Amino acid sequence: MIEAIVINNKQVKIIDQTLLPQEEKYFEIKDYQQMIEAIKKLRIRGAPAIGIAGLVASALACDEFQNYPQDFSKLEKALTEIENARPTAVNLSYAVNIARKYVSSKLFLSETDVLWKKALELAKQEKEASNLMAEHGVEEIFQGQSELRILTHCNTGSLATYGEGTALAVIKALSRIIKVTVWVDETRPLLQGARLTMWELIKEGIECYLISDSMAAHTIKTKQIDLIITGADRITRNGDSANKIGTLVLSILANYYNIPFYIVAPTSTIDYNLEEGSQINIEERDSTELKYIKGVQIAPSSSKVFNPAFDVVDNQLITAIISEKGVHKAPYDFKL
Ligand code: MRU
Repeated sequence: MIEAIVINNKQVKIIDQTLLPQEEKYFEIKDYQQMIEAIKKLRIRGAPAIGIAGLVASALACDEFQNYPQDFSKLEKALTEIENARPTAVNLSYAVNIARKYVSSKLFLSETDVLWKKALELAKQEKEASNLMAEHGVEEIFQGQSELRILTHCNTGSLATYGEGTALAVIKALSRIIKVTVWVDETRPLLQGARLTMWELIKEGIECYLISDSMAAHTIKTKQIDLIITGADRITRNGDSANKIGTLVLSILANYYNIPFYIVAPTSTIDYNLEEGSQINIEERDSTELKYIKGVQIAPSSSKVFNPAFDVVDNQLITAIISEKGVHKAPYDFKL
């Protein structure tokens, strides 16, 4: 299994996902600023993976400031910077809040390894959650069919998590018991589907076809797609689910064509503080991501751009949300 992040005795390396699939290159992260840069640039990405990366960054920041207790406010500022590296996936603030507890109690000054231990615990928790999500997903979806034709969006596999993934973990588990064919949205503008999901599925030996995002409706209509399955970056108490831009239209299509639409996410992706989806902060990214592809300009330089990185699927469009705790169906009312 591919590891998006490797933590070993306070040494951390990540696979640079911006270089995939052409180059499989790990590089060492030496300080928290470097991890912030990696999160912002999507060298490491996917909700559970950036949660773990956020906790590692907090541990690195604590190590840096440990011998300078007078710089305590700088450490608090560093944690806020880590939390703000990307705003939509709640896993990042979930992780930084774990760090804040140890920083505010000053426990990290005496127990120097505490945050490293917490990062490893979170990674283990995400790995176990991934296995359980796969199990629950199979229980929900497998009803004795001999074949399943699945459409997915973005990347929800090992690269996006720690373990097998979220939606992709379910797809991989299904493929171990029946024939599975996957249609993969390229996922514009940063092509996580084309670059990362295709790479993971091909490595797994699962039959898959790359489509552009604009081909989804035609594919569902003509290729007898049985279901659509994606991950999520933040789920509110009522089940509204933010995921990669382009997910909302898939949920609308699923409803129109009367096929199930599933979200797979660990409970670390649930934001218990938010009641509904309109309260989610949607990240807007740089205009260059739309005006250029791999450095090649494809739109007039003066183009005005709207580049939201996520959209929110309304809970009534979701057949079920599959977490490590089981299969949740409407009416959703997530509580701690
Ligand atoms: O911008 P990204 O690549 O971090 O977006 C990732 C997604 O939208 C995934 O679908 C999501 O994190 C859930 S799966 C781990």
